[in-house]
Amino acid sequence: MRTVTVLGATGSVGTSTLDLVERVPDRFRVRALTANNDVAGLAAASMRTGAELAVVADPACLPELKAALAGTGTQVAGGRRAVIEAAVGADLTMAAIVGCAGLQPVMAAVEAGGTVVLANKEPLVSAGDLVTAAACRSGATLLPADSEHNAIFQCMDARRPEGVRRIVLTASGGPFRDWSLADMARVTPEQAVAHPNWSMGAKISVDSATMMNKGLELIEAARLFPIPADRIEIVIHRQSVIHSLVDHVDGSMLAQLGPSDMRVPIAHCLAWPERMATPMAPLDLVTLGRLDFEAPDEVRFPALRLAREALVAGGAAPAILNAANEMAVAAFLDGRIGFLEIAAIVADTLSRFVPPTPETIDAVLAIDAEARGLAAHRVEVGV
Ligand SMILES: NC(=O)c1ccc[n+]([C@@H]2O[C@H](COP(=O)([O-])OP(=O)(O)OC[C@H]3O[C@@H](n4cnc5c(N)ncnc54)[C@H](OP(=O)(O)O)[C@@H]3O)[C@@H](O)[C@H]2O)c1
Repeated sequence: MRTVTVLGATGSVGTSTLDLVERVPDRFRVRALTANNDVAGLAAASMRTGAELAVVADPACLPELKAALAGTGTQVAGGRRAVIEAAVGADLTMAAIVGCAGLQPVMAAVEAGGTVVLANKEPLVSAGDLVTAAACRSGATLLPADSEHNAIFQCMDARRPEGVRRIVLTASGGPFRDWSLADMARVTPEQAVAHPNWSMGAKISVDSATMMNKGLELIEAARLFPIPADRIEIVIHRQSVIHSLVDHVDGSMLAQLGPSDMRVPIAHCLAWPERMATPMAPLDLVTLGRLDFEAPDEVRFPALRLAREALVAGGAAPAILNAANEMAVAAFLDGRIGFLEIAAIVADTLSRFVPPTPETIDAVLAIDAEARGLAAHRVEVGV
């Protein structure tokens, strides 16, 4: 029996995690669940799972949460500090908050030294070196739930990185992979969140459409695995069946295949180093018939280039890239900017300041705040 906390329990990854946890009540007991402001979703999940603690990040939602869970035995709390505190105390913490809002909770969980399952990629992009250094100090186990990184984790012997020639990250290419730039200029938020293969939250869906998601994953891979940036490649694979590959010096290339359902990599992390059953049907290779691969187009999808440049530049650049992207995606979803302006705002923000390499989480958060301010200004005045 292991205790589990789910940060971001009401989101796409959080819901998939609870779906698995609830299937094996003899294996997992829920310690804490958190959300931003979805009180109804959080209260329902808390009651279903018998969670010890439910936390809303938005303190204004606390009275409603208290009322919803009165008499259930679940303790309640509200505010950002309460989310950070809730990240500590379980055997396994699923980090599934969206954005850099998850950074401090992730750090708290990592510093506490337990097992931390990372779906929330933005903290690794903005502060990956600090997160992995904290894990080395505390002895925390970091397990990647992002499907690509989970695939690499399954295919790679990290104790022998000298045997690895390349990591190949696969990308579906998103809903606009065949669209011209002229057509992409007219994309609506509704079109951008409709991913062809995966069902995900709004922010990551837009990131997939701009391919910034693959750029963030490139940086995430460089933080998680001992492989230099120039040996991490991206290839378009429309079917999203191969989730990534590891190419070895002897010519052996290992791939992980599976359905496009986050419950597969999440289950791998929940049960690791064992395996647990999931409700997914096995892949039918004959019905699948073929697997296609093509090179990504960095002209139509400049976010890929921006992310690789930020990774190579190092220092504060990935944190700036991430913060500007979060602001630009939110503005696009609000209908305040066009689809192509997302990458333009990120590029503009990156060009405007070069702070020193952040050595602490507070320094990362200061850079994040300044980059958000610059990006917000660009949203107002245009790029
Ligand atoms: N979805 C996927 O298939 C997938 C795959 C790989 C990686 N990821 C990564 O996993 C993370 C979560 O993605 P998602 O698609 O599950 O997102 P999502 O559906 O938008 O869910 C986000 C979760 O975070 C909570 N949240 C939002 N803002 C918050 C804040 N300021 N403070 C505290 N909690 C906050 C939300 O609460 P409310 O519901 O109350 O707003 C919700 O529980 C992202 O980093 C994403 O890149 C997702």
